[in-house]
Amino acid sequence: MTSLHTYRTGDGLPLVLLHAFPLDHRMWDEVAASLPGPVLAVDLPGMGPGGGSAGLPEPSIDASAAAVAELLAAAGVGRAVLAGLSMGGYVALALAEAHPELVAGIGLLDTKSVADTAEAAANRRRIADDVERTGTVDAVRPMSRTLLGETSLAVRPELVDRVAAWIDAQSPEGVAWSQRAMAARPDRTHVLQAFADPVTVVVGDEDGLTPLDQAEHMVAAAPDARLVVVPHAGHLSAVEDPAAVADALAELVARAERVG
Ligand code: MLT
Repeated sequence: MTSLHTYRTGDGLPLVLLHAFPLDHRMWDEVAASLPGPVLAVDLPGMGPGGGSAGLPEPSIDASAAAVAELLAAAGVGRAVLAGLSMGGYVALALAEAHPELVAGIGLLDTKSVADTAEAAANRRRIADDVERTGTVDAVRPMSRTLLGETSLAVRPELVDRVAAWIDAQSPEGVAWSQRAMAARPDRTHVLQAFADPVTVVVGDEDGLTPLDQAEHMVAAAPDARLVVVPHAGHLSAVEDPAAVADALAELVARAERVG
């Protein structure tokens, strides 16, 4: 089930946090605790407690974006800053394309605007098949290590257990749906090129999945983009260095509020 989690209410432009795969909104707990303004987070379709594929349409990132738009409308949020990490970034770009009036700023963390290569998409579909066939998330459990940077693996090994527990809490059907949705997504660099409001691109300098060159590609595309490189963090910068990510997102919200 897609759901909205409220970390903090208050005045000002809300920040809406969109999580990575194969996780849920809990990956944002520490970032949200360090942010001053109103903060919401979403459990994307299929993911989080009670996740699954029942009632979901054909897998697509556009369907995820439509589900987020519905949740925000139901919560009375007419304009917000979106911040998405990896899969969450794919959803943020789809939402900015479908509902530009809703989006006052975009944070793109450890993500990319381009589509998968044919090989990467085929690998996702193979994993989706495997997860469905086994009825377990075994095929994605190794991501509890590959999502993290080498520094975290060396000095904070407890993060592996935390990420593994989040992965183990996901439903195989929801994991398969999300993989198929990501495999089918188009290149959305043009959305950034057309987006005049503030953008912040964040990347861990040890992110081997969506490395610095992907971040630089997005910064070059967006008219008003800033780049924040988080030292000693891998793909899960928001979990590995929540303070640095919270600072970057607070600055993005402040810029978006100034633009209005
Ligand atoms: C994620 O962190 O959301 C995944 O690495 C996304 C992806 O596989 O592209």
